[in-house]
Amino acid sequence: MALLPILRFPDPRLKRVAAPVNEISDSVRRLVCDMAETMYEAPGIGLAATQVNVHKRVIVIDTSETKDRLLVLINPVLVDVSGSQVCEEGCLSVPGIYDKVERAERVVARYLDLDGNGQTLDAEGLLAVCIQHEIDHLEGKVFVERLSLLKQTRIKAKLAKQARITA
Ligand code: NI
Repeated sequence: MALLPILRFPDPRLKRVAAPVNEISDSVRRLVCDMAETMYEAPGIGLAATQVNVHKRVIVIDTSETKDRLLVLINPVLVDVSGSQVCEEGCLSVPGIYDKVERAERVVARYLDLDGNGQTLDAEGLLAVCIQHEIDHLEGKVFVERLSLLKQTRIKAKLAKQARITA
């Protein structure tokens, strides 16, 4: 296993739309292991392959407090969404920035697990937010792009300043 470097907003590679996984090969299995290790190490509760510059539809999530419920979603699709909730979100690609985003309260997702079996997941609350946030990444969208343009400008300035300090 290996820790993978995480792309930082506004890196243009975060805008790429990920392609479906055609076959759950050894390289996909290795990617999932590395993504899980990277997510736990960060630490974070979700990571999309896009964030580690692999443009395939693969997501890892673990919203459990005990960090022992790894969820791997390959080619996830939302087949139903309902309600709404506003939750403060953060993102490993946008370090130190947190803001409120409105999303569906409940989602039903279909996806393939690591064995290639079709699964259906009915999620609400934080897990539903996380699934929507990560699927956004696969579509080339970072959560700050759901905020006002003024906020986006401020966030970009703040990140640019951080980058100068750490450079
Ligand atoms: Ni994110």
